[in-house]
Amino acid sequence: MARIRLDGVSKRFGTTPVVQEVDLDITDGEFLVLLGPSGCGKSTLLRMIAGLESLSAGRILLDDRDITATAPRQRDVAMVFQSYALYPHLTVAKNIGFPLRARGRSREQIREKVTDVASTLGLVEHLDRRPAALSGGQRQRVALARAMVREPGAFLMDEPLSNLDAALRSATRTELTGLHRRLGTTFLYVTHDQVEAMTMASRIALLNGGRVEQVGTPSQLYDTPWSTFVAAFLGSPPMNLFDAEIVDRAGELHVVADGVDTPLGLPAGAASGPRTVTVGIRPERLRLGTAEARLRGVVTAVENLGGEEILHISLGATSLAVRAPRPVPVQAGDSTGLDVDSRDIHLFDSGTGRRLLWRPPHEHVASAPDASSLSVA
Ligand SMILES: Nc1ncnc2c1ncn2[C@@H]1O[C@H](COP(=O)(O)OP(=O)(O)OP(=O)(O)O)[C@@H](O)[C@H]1O
Ligand SMILES: [Mg+2]
Repeated sequence: MARIRLDGVSKRFGTTPVVQEVDLDITDGEFLVLLGPSGCGKSTLLRMIAGLESLSAGRILLDDRDITATAPRQRDVAMVFQSYALYPHLTVAKNIGFPLRARGRSREQIREKVTDVASTLGLVEHLDRRPAALSGGQRQRVALARAMVREPGAFLMDEPLSNLDAALRSATRTELTGLHRRLGTTFLYVTHDQVEAMTMASRIALLNGGRVEQVGTPSQLYDTPWSTFVAAFLGSPPMNLFDAEIVDRAGELHVVADGVDTPLGLPAGAASGPRTVTVGIRPERLRLGTAEARLRGVVTAVENLGGEEILHISLGATSLAVRAPRPVPVQAGDSTGLDVDSRDIHLFDSGTGRRLLWRPPHEHVASAPDASSLSVA
């Protein structure tokens, strides 16, 4: 059992900051995913928690103990690496039992624990093999088993599935969430794969350039992104983002860009903030419309994903992706109507990319740190 708190954690390599002022409170038993693009500092942050990398500033607390300067072995955490890091000359049983041998446990204790963990992970029939005789997925489970025998307070995992093929990755995702439920232990999991994050996390911390951009449940990040960075990082295809003006049309506010003119559902008096904004609309929130649709565009391409299709539609200079169930009633070259509900329109500050609060916010949005409001003069 472990609660991990990061307090102003920073890391510089030379003069280059790679992790900057990260505050995070990972609650006991949580499955927290550190998500972000390549090079944003995920592995560095995880390695600092494991004790494999020193901090340039800040503190790390495990439960209420300051472990910032504690040796890796004395931290009650176990790390699982992408590369598995198995000993090639040792059998699976010896690989799994290694941490217990290093701690001087008896042969009997070791055999019992190894058998126990191996049966949890479906490895019993492979115990006498060497890693070279295992598939990638089996090796990954041995690496996980080796972490499990220590019964750590928290598991730290750095892209553990990235060497697996798509089908095995998907199956292993389900196994990992099941394992997390059974063990009830804190999982801290690094990935750059949004699908892994969305499907496994109880909460996601999205990193951007060494800083935490947003922390929340997968739904909070997807439904209420605090910035254009978050909006564009989650979702496939990502949220449509384009610059627009907020214009008063006969007493009602409209979002207006080249080829786009759609109401916000607000009276003109409601806004006195920035008039140029970045508009965000999720591809699945655009509906192929009727002849009376408010927006019209030309389909430039259709991508068949099997169950769904992605349409690329140009409306003047604005290009929008639309996700719709197959089959769609249009093809490339057709003109089509598009509708969007004003509740599905996200607005961001076009300078800073921060979310603008232009409607009564959902409860969880109320805590958006530096969100400015469209209606603030
Ligand atoms: N030992 C080091 N010395 C100098 N720079 C480093 C060192 N380790 C990492 N970096 C740099 O720090 C930044 C963050 O690296 P890190 O490995 O934490 O990124 P990441 O988010 O895990 O990326 P990826 O998704 O590619 O694994 C990168 O720019 C990397 O080049
Ligand atoms: Mg990494």
